[in-house]
Amino acid sequence: MEARLINKELIEHFRALAAERQAPERLRHTLGVARMAVALARRHGLDEAAAEVAALAHDMMKGMPPAEQIAAARAQGLLLWPEDEAMPQVLHGRLAAAWLRREYADLPAEIAAAVENHTLGRPGMGALEMLIYSADLTEEGRNFFGLDILRHKLYDDLVEGTRACMQATTESLRARGGCVHPLTLAAYEDLQRRLGL
Ligand SMILES: [Fe+2]
Ligand SMILES: [Fe+2]
Repeated sequence: MEARLINKELIEHFRALAAERQAPERLRHTLGVARMAVALARRHGLDEAAAEVAALAHDMMKGMPPAEQIAAARAQGLLLWPEDEAMPQVLHGRLAAAWLRREYADLPAEIAAAVENHTLGRPGMGALEMLIYSADLTEEGRNFFGLDILRHKLYDDLVEGTRACMQATTESLRARGGCVHPLTLAAYEDLQRRLGL
């Protein structure tokens, strides 16, 4: 199937969907991710329209109650790791990606991949996957120690910036006593390998 050209109407369609389905706080976050994603895409010569659509879609299923997310993920065969059920907050990316692949099958495949992997990452992440993962953490509404450094790194080098974002996320998770998903550990090791670290 030939991939659909992403025009202004399609971007506005996803923006309207986000506005309709998301509470004000989440919508602010989504629009912040979209702005950051477009800025990073421009900086690194990537497809800005694809970045914007992926950002607008990335949290579309996050408002679903966790029990429903688990049930929907089970029904669609999206519970992939033993850890998934204990961490239902990781499922909304996969659910949104499955929705995109179903309802917008002619979108470029990297958009659904970026949505799918925005919470955990995965080994072998493509540019748009790294970009959405990182924009999610560094959008204008975020506020934490070290955020400026992460933004600088992302503007400088998408791979190193994403590695640094992943390190920040796992360190803060561990500091709060949480455990890090095996997919994130594998993604982090892969980025380190790519950087020769
Ligand atoms: Fe998310
Ligand atoms: Fe998000």
